[in-house]
Amino acid sequence: MAAPTPAVEIKGLVKDFKTSFRRQMLRAVDDVSIRIMPGEVYGLIGPNGSGKSTTMKALLGLVAPTSGSCAIFGKDSLKVDSRNDVGFLPENPYFYKHLSGAETLRFYGKLCGLKGKRLDDRVSELLALVDLENARDRRLGGYSKGMLQRIGLAQAMIQEPRLVILDEPTAGVDPVGSRQIRDLILKLRERGITVFLCSHLLEQVQEVCDHVGIIFRGKMVKEGRLDDLIAIEDQTEIIIKDASPELISQITALVGNSTTASLVRTGKPRTTLERLFLRETTQGKDS
Ligand SMILES: Nc1ncnc2c1ncn2[C@@H]1O[C@H](COP(=O)(O)OP(=O)(O)O)[C@@H](O)[C@H]1O
Ligand SMILES: [Mg+2]
Repeated sequence: MAAPTPAVEIKGLVKDFKTSFRRQMLRAVDDVSIRIMPGEVYGLIGPNGSGKSTTMKALLGLVAPTSGSCAIFGKDSLKVDSRNDVGFLPENPYFYKHLSGAETLRFYGKLCGLKGKRLDDRVSELLALVDLENARDRRLGGYSKGMLQRIGLAQAMIQEPRLVILDEPTAGVDPVGSRQIRDLILKLRERGITVFLCSHLLEQVQEVCDHVGIIFRGKMVKEGRLDDLIAIEDQTEIIIKDASPELISQITALVGNSTTASLVRTGKPRTTLERLFLRETTQGKDS
């Protein structure tokens, strides 16, 4: 059986930019290769200036590679039809602030050739998907950063793409807003949509991505399945609810009798500050 076509295939991508300083060249992306299979959620992480946006722009055909190649579902990114199946949320999406949420989506829907009832239905469906039905007739000028990112995500979904590319989807968004965006990304995954996102916010990537690449100064320094990358290979975790002190001492004694195993730590698992914050600010709605 033939292997499925990757949703994203970046091979040996190099991108140089001319700098204004003595016309020197700056290597923004240095021999990066990424393969994302259909249905995966892939997170590219790295500090600011490490080449994440440039990699995404090359994949979208918005900048031409200096060398190497990019393809989307087997179609070279330099060909226009490679973009048929892609939705893109740029780093700083620009919207007309006088249009309402619904009007914005209608505008983009029309650009994609939708009209009549199909357009109306699609706009309503997308507003429901991103949970902005209540704000559909409000002008974007009054939207929060998180709401704008969600309208941006809805815009990226307008032509029912199989691949969605999100550049820093939660940058500048508060924790509650970030959680909504993460839930949305998980919804996309449930629908089988491939997601390629980049971020410098590590925790958020950890919560949604199944594959991760770490890029630093234009180079891919580590890549793989998230679970493999963060597993501590030689340790095992047992989490017990309502354990009595006797039970703990029995388990401790049992491990103590082993000639090979040793107890590293017992104690209470910690929640993250972010989860605590969300719990306290959403009145127990989320945990
Ligand atoms: N159009 C451009 N012209 C010149 N330099 C650029 C251009 N776009 C990006 N760069 C430079 O390339 C490097 C990588 O940028 P970028 O891909 O935006 O990083 P990231 O998205 O990880 O923050 C940076 O040093 C940036 O200044
Ligand atoms: Mg960027």
